[in-house]
Amino acid sequence: MIVTIDGVAASGKSSVASGVARALGIPYVSSGFLYRAATLLALEAGLPPSDPAPLLALLRGRPLRLEPLAGGNRVWQGERDLTPGLHSSRVDAGVSAVARLPEVRAWVDEELRALPEPFVAEGRDMGTNVFPHADAKFYLTASPRVRAERRAQERGEDAGTVEAALIERDRRDAAQSAPAPDARVIDTGPLTLEGVIGAVLAALPARTA
Ligand code: DC
Repeated sequence: MIVTIDGVAASGKSSVASGVARALGIPYVSSGFLYRAATLLALEAGLPPSDPAPLLALLRGRPLRLEPLAGGNRVWQGERDLTPGLHSSRVDAGVSAVARLPEVRAWVDEELRALPEPFVAEGRDMGTNVFPHADAKFYLTASPRVRAERRAQERGEDAGTVEAALIERDRRDAAQSAPAPDARVIDTGPLTLEGVIGAVLAALPARTA
């Protein structure tokens, strides 16, 4: 059983996916973590996103492992836990360019499709490209202002600066972020986190819930 939760940056996808997964008693999978891990390794190796071949050689040479835990995901390269470095502003700024590379997208898709079911998968194209036959699909939206205020509060940053960065990231990610035709779209603006989780759970087909 696969439930997909896609949506724009800072729409609450990972908190919602984690809450839904916990309620269902299954793991959640954050696809963004794999894009972030590829970006971290590219930055560390000084690789330009304009040349995907060396990055792919690196990803295939020392394989990464996504560990989908109930409360949060971790990414391992052998014994090294890459997770603490995945949300730095350097990775935030570089990830869209790396995530645009078709070779990197194919690598991420392959990693995700190899994971054992059941799980809740969260990202941008889970319901469209990666798991088109998912049992239930959701797409989360919220205005840039609402998302910026939430994220600024979380990180103790200025909401105006965060909003500008989010609008720029929406623009860069637009090509890979669209609701599947059969996804239920939820505007999270007026809802609390518990409200969104409740709306997802209430909309699940009986056999999944
Ligand atoms: O959800 P996130 O912010 O952790 O995602 C990080 C970046 O990875 C985001 O800028 C877009 C990209 N991404 C993607 O292109 N496709 C996905 N399925 C997930 C993330």
